[in-house]
Amino acid sequence: MNILVINGPNLNLLGSREPEVYGTDTLEELMMWLENSPEAAGHSFKFYQSNHEGEIIDSIHDEREWAHGIIINPAAFTHYSYAIRDAITAVGTPTVEVHLSDIHAREEFRQKSVISAVCIGQISGMGKQSYTEGIKFLSRSKS
Ligand code: DQA
Repeated sequence: MNILVINGPNLNLLGSREPEVYGTDTLEELMMWLENSPEAAGHSFKFYQSNHEGEIIDSIHDEREWAHGIIINPAAFTHYSYAIRDAITAVGTPTVEVHLSDIHAREEFRQKSVISAVCIGQISGMGKQSYTEGIKFLSRSKS
């Protein structure tokens, strides 16, 4: 599968951003680890990070022909971006929502996702393994 991996706002600061919550890997390290994981074998990846809602929407649109699946960590946009939700619906690409932390065990505003209803799954709280679980989820949905 061709898999587009999208990381939303503030995830460019992984490594130094609240390491007790998000771990000590930088985003680049995390994405390299993902691409080299056993779960990634046989798949092709494109990685995208933006702090801007419109740019994330553009990446979903721009890769709609290429991507067979999307793994998205929408970060704070998870909780209020109807525009990203609509973009996922518009392109119809199977999408998995992932989070490093367990959003269901944190502040109340994080416990709600406006994105998950249009995704084939949500994986939360498994650290970087949330992303490899995302690959597994997409692979299963194809078979
Ligand atoms: C996050 C959880 C969000 O609530 C938060 O805004 C993030 C990261 C996670 O991966 O745990 O930026 O998506």
